[in-house]
Amino acid sequence: MLHAETAKEQLNPLLPGYSFNLYLVAGITPIIENGPLDFFIDRPNGMNGYIINMTVQGRGKVFDGGDTFFCNPGDLLLFPPEAAHYYGRAPEQGDWYHRWVYFRPRAYWSPWLKWRNQVNKVGRLSLQDRGLIAEFDALFQQIDATQKAGRTTSEELAINLLERLLIRCYEETPENFAKPLDPRIHETCQFLSRNLAAEIELEEIARHVCLSPSRLAHLFREQVGVSIVRWREDQRIILAKHLLASTRTPVSGIADLVGYPDQLYFSRVFRKRVGLSPSRYRQDSTGGPHICPDPLQAASLPAGEAQDHGYTLQNGILTRSPT
Ligand code: FCB
Repeated sequence: MLHAETAKEQLNPLLPGYSFNLYLVAGITPIIENGPLDFFIDRPNGMNGYIINMTVQGRGKVFDGGDTFFCNPGDLLLFPPEAAHYYGRAPEQGDWYHRWVYFRPRAYWSPWLKWRNQVNKVGRLSLQDRGLIAEFDALFQQIDATQKAGRTTSEELAINLLERLLIRCYEETPENFAKPLDPRIHETCQFLSRNLAAEIELEEIARHVCLSPSRLAHLFREQVGVSIVRWREDQRIILAKHLLASTRTPVSGIADLVGYPDQLYFSRVFRKRVGLSPSRYRQDSTGGPHICPDPLQAASLPAGEAQDHGYTLQNGILTRSPT
């Protein structure tokens, strides 16, 4: 055994000081209020290997301050080596039981180790369904039992089960299977963004991306989830919000810049989407007279790009360049 080098070495992985000098160590940490394990695990520099854990009972608290989140039964966490560990029983909860596996991954596992949802580098996955929770719980238990079975192949078999667990986590993350955007839909979005203020007809966009208008409308809704008109409206309102918050351009000018020559209509659409009138939104977001000195930057439009989009900036006021 690599880790049994000194007599003083901590042999209980549940207590601070255990070396984790192995490829795989698994266990369950039963934290009960005022019990011997009722302390916060605090490893600011992370560990040499990864840890995956799953709450099976009670409630855990992870991190402090603004980053705090809680884990309930069926919640899994993945700590990569560089991630800080700071977790313990949630204060108002009598206990927190979590199963965990510490491991050094095999090189080809990397796709399974990039979790989509992360807080401070800690991957999060919540299983919603009882059947799934039972399946994952059983896998954790098998890994633990296999690792401790004392066979020559115990570690290999436990690693094999762990690989299954990681692949199942990948499978249970729906975003991993989101189809990439069709290039013609991507180009439609780019085309619309480049011509945000113009009233381009569906037929023209369809010609541009070599689709029939009805096929384009259908594919766009299928892939983006909203109609082309609605998507463009959303983009216009996003840009209008930026410009209201970061320039002195009058509301009528902004309406015109983002494609609504009729200011009343613009205000109506804006109020419907944002819940406030444009001028009220400007007041709230600038908190008074302060206006960002570089409105293009604040509007996420670099000066060059703004010109490409046909805008000119003069004295804090954006206008559309004459064509
Ligand atoms: C135990 C913790 C457990 C995990 C292992 C590596 O002490 O209770 O969550 O971090 O160490």
